[in-house]
Amino acid sequence: MRKKIVAGNWKMNLSYAEAMSLADALVNAVEENASPDIILASPFIYLHELISRIQGNPNFYMAAQNCSEHQKGAFTGEVSAPMLASIGIEHVLIGHSERRTLYGESDVVLRSKVDRAIESGLIPIFCCGEMLAERNAGSHFQRVADQLNNGLFGISEKQMKECIIAYEPVWAIGTGVTASSEQAQEMHAFIRSEIAKKYSAELADTISILYGGSVNAQNAAELFTCKDVDGGLVGGASLKSAEFISIIRAMESVSTN
Ligand code: 13P
Repeated sequence: MRKKIVAGNWKMNLSYAEAMSLADALVNAVEENASPDIILASPFIYLHELISRIQGNPNFYMAAQNCSEHQKGAFTGEVSAPMLASIGIEHVLIGHSERRTLYGESDVVLRSKVDRAIESGLIPIFCCGEMLAERNAGSHFQRVADQLNNGLFGISEKQMKECIIAYEPVWAIGTGVTASSEQAQEMHAFIRSEIAKKYSAELADTISILYGGSVNAQNAAELFTCKDVDGGLVGGASLKSAEFISIIRAMESVSTN
């Protein structure tokens, strides 16, 4: 059984007080046993405090939204994977499209970030996804295959077992236009086939692949019903407790059916 996961990417939103009260509301609303894993990707400065807020509920985990490609040293303003691990963080987003496009993070840099994360015992949530022009040109599968091959694959099968993949088509992020369930399913199945080609069918079958891009309370259940979609990486809709809880409930009901 693959792990079912609902992850929220808060991006650069929420004040300290807002972040704490959102986390408290989620922790209180979610049943301890009947839920998917819930991962909250918060800005760095709230992570330490949030770790203690979520401690009472075993479904919750924290993620950083980024980490340095270096282990330590003179890199002003950066946060390293060992630092994150040292405060009890378990996950880190790597290769989000906003990091790729706004901060110019190349596949080579992302590959180093994956290595730093794994060395520190962090679970990379590796993001991939095509631009609209690439989908329109029919090169979306090739684009995602390239991102996986150049940024993620190359780690060992044992290390790969610990990774989570998030497919986030760039044209669906923050636009209100979500991929259809057919588009999501087709790409998730393709990602699994790439993993099978590079590693093994067994690994391809066990790795969790999340869909991200305008997931909300209305469309979550349909997306989560897709055979190869193991959960969501939710942006805007993860900032409102009621809506994010509805998305978690959507996953709960799909998993129990
Ligand atoms: P939205 O859900 O706001 O489209 O953002 C998706 C995303 O980028 C999650 O990482």
